[in-house]
Amino acid sequence: MRNKNTPINYQAVTNSINELNISNLSSATIREIVKVTNIIEGKTNEKFIRMEMGVPGINPPEIGTQAEIEALKNGVARSYPMLDGIKPLKEETSKFIKNFMNIDISATGCIPTVGSMQGGYAAFLLAANLDPKKDTALFIDPGFPVQKQQFKVMNHKYTSFDVYDYRGKKLLAKLEDILSKGNINSIIYSNPNNPTWICFTEEELQIIGEMANKYDVLILEDLAYFAMDFRVDLSQPGVAPYQATVANYTDNYILLISSSKAFSYAGQRLGMLCISDAIFCKEYDSLKERFGTASIGYTIVQRILYALSSGTAHSAQYALAAMFKAANEGKFNFLEDIRDYGKKAVTTKKMFLDNGFKLVYDKDIDKELADGFYYTISYPGMDAGELIKNLLYYGICAISLSTCGSNSTNGLRICVSQIQHEQIPVFEKRINQFGKDFPINK
Ligand SMILES: Cc1ncc(COP(=O)(O)O)c(C=O)c1O
Repeated sequence: MRNKNTPINYQAVTNSINELNISNLSSATIREIVKVTNIIEGKTNEKFIRMEMGVPGINPPEIGTQAEIEALKNGVARSYPMLDGIKPLKEETSKFIKNFMNIDISATGCIPTVGSMQGGYAAFLLAANLDPKKDTALFIDPGFPVQKQQFKVMNHKYTSFDVYDYRGKKLLAKLEDILSKGNINSIIYSNPNNPTWICFTEEELQIIGEMANKYDVLILEDLAYFAMDFRVDLSQPGVAPYQATVANYTDNYILLISSSKAFSYAGQRLGMLCISDAIFCKEYDSLKERFGTASIGYTIVQRILYALSSGTAHSAQYALAAMFKAANEGKFNFLEDIRDYGKKAVTTKKMFLDNGFKLVYDKDIDKELADGFYYTISYPGMDAGELIKNLLYYGICAISLSTCGSNSTNGLRICVSQIQHEQIPVFEKRINQFGKDFPINK
């Protein structure tokens, strides 16, 4: 008989789940899990341990806020921003990429977008129009579900595979198999990865880069969690080690660097879309035909971004320029506060594991995964839908891995960003009770 004496009122949770009218919570989107959690919190006045959405849990750096206030006071709100961004931001981004990735990209190719969300959209749109024979994008999954939604909005084709079974050298044969069909225009992945927090090794990045060269495919490297592989210290400008990147192995790339997580600046919606110098001026007949402009750089800026939002909020650009400048000059260690995510991951992950949970994605080949923004869990004997549902009664919410393109039918993504340190004892108590209430049959 199931224990109905749960940390959150049993009946209130049951009613709220029924109200949402989703038969299986494993297919619920992040926003739907947010909604059901809000309903339960409203009904019970109990606070949840929110592990569903990647909202940064850290205050934005003062340097950014001050620069933005100053820009507003100087009246930047009056005028339209240039489509390709303000000069100081472009220059500081180029330096930032050199300092923290050891990669050279000219300031011209560093273009602000309304979050990496928009940068991705623009890059996907471009990639699909380079060659009529190449009508499909390839996601190395698991991935960030909203990007698939962007494909649906555009009615573009994509294919994907779960990288779980294709780590290391196995990645080569898998990519060969897919790319040799000749219909792939681009490869998309995030590194560190949302939702699993795997980080590709140099060998894997080299494979991806070499495949991009062999099959003339554009790599869209999503660095939403820039430098957040906390196993290594990536915080010192101009000093190795650097953020790992495919840019060391191919020229066919666009990098997406978001201010949301590494700089806790999600609310101002600013990301940088950075186009490799080698392809910025590269021309394509099909771009010319569709947009009237042949080159990659010109088409992205003067056609696609112009049509999408006509530039990016002026004041936020000044904020990011100031934060990059301070980081470039060694005056601001942008990872210092952010490392707290790693600490919360260590503590909460151990609590899950001590209570019978398993990690789903557990290794970078032979290395333990880094501790950062996300990790993945499962519970023996429960599929993802049951696990999400059962955890709601214990005041914990998360999303399923299957919504992120994972083959796992029982895994959940856990995000540590919103949990406050003061909540950890509450989390521990709840997860201990969960472990006791659902004994594992050995
Ligand atoms: C992998 C990945 N890409 C892109 C984004 C969106 O970034 P932004 O807030 O800059 O639009 C996120 C945000 O969670 C993400 O996880």
